[in-house]
Formats: sequence, structure tokens, C-alpha cells
Amino acid sequence: MRTRRPLGLGMVGGGQGAYIGNIHRLASRLDGKWRLVAGAFDVDPQRGREFASGEGLDPARSYGAYQDLITAEVGREDKVDAVAICTPNFTHYPIAKALIDAGFDVICEKPLTATLEDAIALEKLARESGRFVGVTYTYSGYPMVHEARVRVARGEIGAVRTVQVEYPLEWMATAIEKTGNVQAAWRTDPKKNGRGGSVGDIGTHAYHLAGFVTGLKLEALTADLATFVGGRALDDNAHVMMRYEGGARGLLWSSQVAVGNSNGVRLRVFGEKGSFQWFQEHPNELVFTPLEGRVQLIKRGADDLSADAKARTRTPPGHPEGYLEAFANLYAGFAEAIQARQDRREPDPIGQNVPLAYDGLKGVAFVEAVVDSHEASDQPWIRPVAV
Ligand code: NAI
Repeated sequence: MRTRRPLGLGMVGGGQGAYIGNIHRLASRLDGKWRLVAGAFDVDPQRGREFASGEGLDPARSYGAYQDLITAEVGREDKVDAVAICTPNFTHYPIAKALIDAGFDVICEKPLTATLEDAIALEKLARESGRFVGVTYTYSGYPMVHEARVRVARGEIGAVRTVQVEYPLEWMATAIEKTGNVQAAWRTDPKKNGRGGSVGDIGTHAYHLAGFVTGLKLEALTADLATFVGGRALDDNAHVMMRYEGGARGLLWSSQVAVGNSNGVRLRVFGEKGSFQWFQEHPNELVFTPLEGRVQLIKRGADDLSADAKARTRTPPGHPEGYLEAFANLYAGFAEAIQARQDRREPDPIGQNVPLAYDGLKGVAFVEAVVDSHEASDQPWIRPVAV
């Protein structure tokens, strides 16, 4: 086991009252591989500095704006190793570009950017600069998702025929964006969020999860979007039919108005010889059903799991792991990928198969295709002769 000093983490966004920044802070701490040392935490400079002080940061490394963070950190001997971008979607591209141009590695929230143009430019920049750009597709951090991925690749269910993936949420079932909910306000503003409402916010997670586990590449899609809450400018429900290369089919549902679902991410993969099912509210279990066999529960922590799942497991079976550990696995993976690159060696399993800029670009391309499909006037809708 290699031991070395923790990597220095900077953060943009994620200040007082923000959602995902705190998850990044908790997750990055879990394995001692990162230490939060600098930040421009808020769009309001003063609030950001107050927040940094509450986090115990060196006041000299608490910045009013990300541009100040870049200018000051570049000149430091102990400069941050990477910066996490935890801001609304439309700011990801300018912030990431400025960081990469200044030579920093980046950990960026999904969707990678708010527009396809920006996603293409950012992926190109990441590739050409050689900087590390990790994307926090949370669900690819779960050990049992990796287990499913390994088993599908091993051929345990044969060729995949169909994939059902869904991400239903209920929190936007009413117009909370009009009642002061900050997160809902920018998510329903096309300029800040991008063109895809539910599909950009959570459909991107589902799309990544399905492709990650099956290894299938999307060939084409057709989509039907709906906005159920009056006055909302973006979709809050999306149904997407997908055709994968090689003939497999997929069905993706994302919804922000699915009452009764707090965070109901569910993946079902059906192959010629069996199926796998994974549900994020029971993340320690993978359900395997072989053709003409019995339903089997594969549990996290078991001795016979793959190296990929084991590398992402901290506690024995029966001591549940969940969301924070999955997010921490992404951070551990990013640290390992960055350190392996510094050491010019292959990363250990935890640093392999982490979501990168190209995965982020694919997610944004998916969203754009979904919205294009929905808006296309030649979308075939056939009314049956009897209804
Ligand atoms: P939020 O609205 O709760 O927080 C945004 C934060 O960014 C606030 O602190 C705000 O002051 C700050 N900010 C905005 N512009 C800034 C700037 N120019 N410089 C510095 N700080 C700035 O948003 P939330 O819900 O935390 O989402 C942030 C990002 O994380 C989004 O891209 C979202 O899609 C993603 N997200 C990802 C999740 C995951 O599972 N991976 C879950 C939730 C959100």
C-alpha cells in the first residue's frame, strides 16, 4: 500500500446552504487522500469567506472568486492538486477552462456543461492539455454497481438484450422554484441549467449508469418530454427509448415529479442468460437471476466479489455502506488516477473506470439528443384505431 501526503483540494461553490459541496467535502475526507485547503465557495465573496472561516481554512486561501483562487494558488509552492467545481451547470465550463488553462486538475460536477458546444470544447481541452478531469457521476461509485459491470463483462448474463433505467424524484412536484428554493430556481432556468430539465439533472446519471454497467454504446434515441408543473420552462419528466449498437434496447425514465420517490435510482439489465437488478435505496445488494434459476442476492462485502467491488468496500457485510461511501469511492479513484499519472504507473483498481471528461461529454450529448428528438416535428406518434 502506498502512503503519501493527502492531495490538496480546492473547491469552487458549495458554500452556505448549497447542496452538493458538502457531500464533496465529506466524501473527500473519508479515506484521508484529500485535504480541503482552499476555496471560493460562494457567488457572494463575503459569504464565501465567512463559510471558509467556518470550515477552518487558512484565511489566506479563502478567496472571493475563483479567478482569485487561480491567480493566488498558481504561485504557491503548496498549491492545490485539484479543484472541485460544485456550482450550477452554466458556470462549469468557464471555471473548468480557467483552471485547466492555469494547469490545475479538475473534478467537475455533472452535467459537465450546460451546452453541447461547451462540453465538446471542455473535453478537447482536457485531452489536449493532459489535465485530469473527473466527473462526479455518483452512481458509478457504488461497489455493487462495479460488481454488476464486471459480471456483465464476464458474460454471466450473456449478451444484453434490454436495459431499463430510471431516476425518479419527487422534490419538484410543485412549483418550489417560485417559493425561494435556490436549487430548484436555477434548475428550471434554461440559461443556467441547460436545455434538459429532469433529463439534464438526473437523466444524465441514469444514462451514465446504464452505459457504465453494460458497456453498451448508444446508437440512437427517441424521446418524449413533459412539463407537468405549470409555468416551468424545462421538462420535469422524460421518457427515452434507446437503441444501442449491436441491437440491444434501452428505456430511460427521469422524473422530478414522481411522488413517493426520494431518490429511486434503479437499473435492470436483461441478457440472454440472466438479469441483474440494482436499486440505490438498497445499494448493498445486487439481484442476479439466471435463466431458469432462482433469484439470488449478491451482497456487498462477500469474499467472492470482484477486485473492482472490493477496492470500493470499507466495512464487512451487514454494516451498510451507502451514498457517502460511493461518493468517497469517486474521490479515492480520482486521487489514485492523479497520483498514478504523477508516478507514471498504472492506477490500482480504485483509480480505474472513474468517470472522465469524455463521459461528461457523452452525458451532455445525450441530453441534447433527447431534447432535439422531443422537439423534432417528424416524431412518429400513431393513434391506434381503437382507444
Ligand atoms: P446549489 O445551488 O445548492 O449550490 C451552488 C453553489 O455554487 C452555491 O454555494 C453558490 O453560491 C455557488 N456559486 C454559484 N456561482 C458561483 C461562482 N461563480 N463562484 C463560486 N461559487 C459559485 O447547487 P447544487 O444543488 O449543489 O448543484 C451544484 C452542481 O452539482 C450542479 O451542477 C448539479 O447538477 C450538481 N449536483 C450533482 C449531484 C450528484 O449526485 N453528483 C447532486 C446534486 C447536484
